[in-house]
Amino acid sequence: MAIRTCFFAFLLLLLPLEFIAVMGVTPPLPLPECRPIVAVDRDQVQFALNLEFLEAEFFLYGALGTGLDDIAPSLALGGPPPVGGRKANLDPVIRTIIEEFAYQEIGHLRAITESVGGVPRPRLNISAGAFATLLDQAMNTTLSPPFNPYTNSLNYLLASYVIPYVGLVGYVGTIPNLVGRTNRALAASLLGVESGQDAVIRTLLYLRANETVNNRGRFYRSYIGNKEQAWQMWDER
Ligand SMILES: *[C@@H]1O[C@H](CO)[C@@H](O)[C@H](O)[C@H]1NC(C)=O
Ligand SMILES: *[C@@H]1O[C@H](CO)[C@@H](O)[C@H](O)[C@H]1NC(C)=O
Ligand SMILES: *[C@@H]1O[C@H](CO)[C@@H](O)[C@H](O)[C@H]1NC(C)=O
Repeated sequence: MAIRTCFFAFLLLLLPLEFIAVMGVTPPLPLPECRPIVAVDRDQVQFALNLEFLEAEFFLYGALGTGLDDIAPSLALGGPPPVGGRKANLDPVIRTIIEEFAYQEIGHLRAITESVGGVPRPRLNISAGAFATLLDQAMNTTLSPPFNPYTNSLNYLLASYVIPYVGLVGYVGTIPNLVGRTNRALAASLLGVESGQDAVIRTLLYLRANETVNNRGRFYRSYIGNKEQAWQMWDER
């Protein structure tokens, strides 16, 4: 209903525009519910919590087989626990790295919450099936067997690579819009850590450039060089 009302309001706005152009009359304001909402610093920083929750849960489950509710439950602010997370079959070095990432993410949740206030954890689906769907859509195919991020280190790294990258790009986009010095400093510090995680995952992927994925083929190096082509570079053997 609201959308339709806004749509009609928009049409009504269009009608007088020609006259305004000629006569220089100030255009009427749209209905209050149709006006853009200005996101203040607090909204923009809190928005990042969505991704920080996802990272924290995915890394905690992958490394430890348990989630935020076991480590720092108060940060979830009563939001529902994620579904589908489980301990990944990781080699010892990668498991340790992912565990460290998880603690960094808890630190991010805490830093944002203490600085601008938290939001309840959103409902997250980190099941193998959710990642399988993501990969199938990215590759425009249906993998058989389905991709499972929890099966081994390589699959987990591939699944993980998406996440800090989205985080760092989000912070890069947010920082110029922040007004307060403290909020800028906070977002810049989080950006630094996300970038570091991204670089570590990328390096680990390069070292595995020739390993097979899903018993099917391998990702060429360009997977990590060019995300656009990433999923087309599957080597069918
Ligand atoms: C999580 O995602 C998987 C894969 O899309 C789906 O099968 C499952 O029903 C989802 N679980 C919930 C609780 O939404
Ligand atoms: C996805 O696959 C379908 C069926 O093979 C094909 O018709 C379509 O062009 C593909 N889309 C892209 C974006 O490659
Ligand atoms: C992967 O294979 C190519 C071709 O054999 C080789 O040049 C490259 O060094 C290999 N990369 C790794 C990381 O083993």
